[in-house]
Amino acid sequence: MKLKIKICLIYFILTEYAFAAQGSQVACVGNSGQACNAACPSPPGGCTWNTSTTLTSCQINECSYCPSFTSNTSDQFCSSCTSATPFTNFQNTACVASKFSCINRQTNPWSDSDCSTCYGKTMYANIAASSCISTTGSCTSRGNTPWNDTDCTACNGKTLYASTSGSSCVASVASCVKRQSTPWTDQDCNTCNGKAMYASSDQTSCVASSASCISRGGTEWTSDDCKLCNPQTPKLASGQCVANSNIILISLLIFISLLI
Ligand SMILES: *[C@@H]1O[C@H](CO)[C@@H](O)[C@H](O)[C@H]1NC(C)=O
Ligand SMILES: *[C@@H]1O[C@H](CO)[C@@H](O)[C@H](O)[C@H]1NC(C)=O
Ligand SMILES: *[C@@H]1O[C@H](CO)[C@@H](O)[C@H](O)[C@H]1NC(C)=O
Repeated sequence: MKLKIKICLIYFILTEYAFAAQGSQVACVGNSGQACNAACPSPPGGCTWNTSTTLTSCQINECSYCPSFTSNTSDQFCSSCTSATPFTNFQNTACVASKFSCINRQTNPWSDSDCSTCYGKTMYANIAASSCISTTGSCTSRGNTPWNDTDCTACNGKTLYASTSGSSCVASVASCVKRQSTPWTDQDCNTCNGKAMYASSDQTSCVASSASCISRGGTEWTSDDCKLCNPQTPKLASGQCVANSNIILISLLIFISLLI
């Protein structure tokens, strides 16, 4: 009795093993009349596709014949032999557990984790989730990683610039951080800083004046605004911003006019 059970068990284990070693059925694309071993991508050395001409149910004959493969992986091979990791990586060197195929993505979105899994190195999904890119941090879950101009453009697929604080990407006319020779405008000062700021009168910086330095309109100059807007003429005198040295001249003129 006991012996029979043992034999049964051994038989069961052997057949299970044999069954598990045969690949699952997968579909390969080929011409009608073509056999699986011609239509399916070449499997890793040692393994073979069966010779069936029913291309919707191709199988690796014996997965254990290529146990430690490092090349020739394909979605078909991985689905057939390693169903927990059903997709090939981009290098065709390993089977991976990405959410969707790495090489035949179709309309399925990319995620940060699939990008890294499929490329075998840290990569991130762009904002549109249509491709993987090399950036300094995630496009969608940025965390504490500051944005820079390169990442803003790469993630968004169009020219955008990192805000002055690096906390977001903005549609300014030129870089907020590396402005170089592009003059500042009121609009860009606002956009880059995410709050009301104005271009200095010489357009070399953004300042926290109470109104525009350049298009003053009806707003009266204040002593603070003179200092902020016009480093060359920082003093308020008779409603105008004047150079420090001019104060003496103006006072003198007023004094003389009083004398006359
Ligand atoms: C990989 O496939 C190619 C055919 O595409 C074959 O020539 C080569 O021998 C295969 N390499 C291995 C290691 O299986
Ligand atoms: C080969 O393909 C056929 C499908 O036509 C399938 O029934 C058979 O089990 C496959 N596997 C082997 C190892 O022959
Ligand atoms: C953004 O950061 C990366 C990584 O530090 C660097 O390679 C790249 O040049 C930076 N881009 C700019 C515009 O600073």
